[in-house]
Amino acid sequence: MKKILMLYYSQTGQLKRVVDSFISKLPDEDIQVDVRAIKPKVEYPFPWPFYQFFDEFPESVLMDGCEIQEIKDLDYDYDLIILGYTVWYMSPSIPITGFMKSSQAKKIFNNKPVITLIACRDMWVLAQEKMKNLLINVNAKLIDNVALTDQGKGAYSLVTMPRFLLTGKKNPFAFFPPAGILESDIKNASRFGERLNEALKKDKEKTGNSLLKNLGAVNIDGKLIATEKIANRSFQVWTRLIKFSGKKYSFARKITITVYVAFLILLLLTIVPINVVLSKLINKFKKNKLSSLEAKYELPSGR
Ligand SMILES: Cc1cc2nc3c(=O)[nH]c(=O)nc-3n(C[C@H](O)[C@H](O)[C@H](O)COP(=O)(O)O)c2cc1C
Repeated sequence: MKKILMLYYSQTGQLKRVVDSFISKLPDEDIQVDVRAIKPKVEYPFPWPFYQFFDEFPESVLMDGCEIQEIKDLDYDYDLIILGYTVWYMSPSIPITGFMKSSQAKKIFNNKPVITLIACRDMWVLAQEKMKNLLINVNAKLIDNVALTDQGKGAYSLVTMPRFLLTGKKNPFAFFPPAGILESDIKNASRFGERLNEALKKDKEKTGNSLLKNLGAVNIDGKLIATEKIANRSFQVWTRLIKFSGKKYSFARKITITVYVAFLILLLLTIVPINVVLSKLINKFKKNKLSSLEAKYELPSGR
């Protein structure tokens, strides 16, 4: 009998639906799947109050984590662990970071093969680099990564996802698609569990090699990597400005957050469109470099 542990933190329930689909064809008489939710001691609100949504920015970027409830009914002898996480400000979400830094995580992950499962808007590459370090710190071995991203991609989801998170509204409007991941993408995530079922029966998880190759587990747009790196630089500055302007949820922080949001809106209306046009021109000459970057960050699963 093989034992798989599926761990996840999902705030609005979207990642939970991806998790359910992922494992729908995985368990049978030879394979047991234990699904456990990671729960912060203090829940985050949904829909998010405007200032709290931005107040979590510094702690997300600096990966401070938060206090997590201990997970009950756990064994520590799993053959494979799947870790489902979402991305907050280009970092693993605060509850996931909190959990990965806990003493329980050290016990669970020690020496185990791990598959990461991401469901987010569409910027996860740097978050996954940070996740790799968190996994190294608990002595886990990353063997695969699956990433599902929102429909409408880039510019559209920059509007639809914050609208959803701040108002709870997911519906399409004007020329914008609905917020979140395509239903068909969620449904098709069952192919990963199906493949794992076959692989586990052949003990392939013991090889340390990727089990989910050629299934379209990840699909990186090289142009986005550059955008993430630029955004990350500005995050480092604003994170410190907000954090040092006052305590969490304080009035002083609200003032800095207001300035930051005004800056973001200005950026969205000016620099972002200019950047889109310029990078289209520049990227034509950088095709090879972009392809090799894509290949690097698509490891270990590849397309
Ligand atoms: C505070 C916050 C920050 C977010 N930042 C990002 C981000 O940087 N990149 C991204 O692709 N998605 C980002 N998202 C979207 C989430 O990754 C995720 O898609 C969404 O919260 C729904 O997930 P869930 O309902 O499963 O928790 C953010 C969400 C929240 C709440």
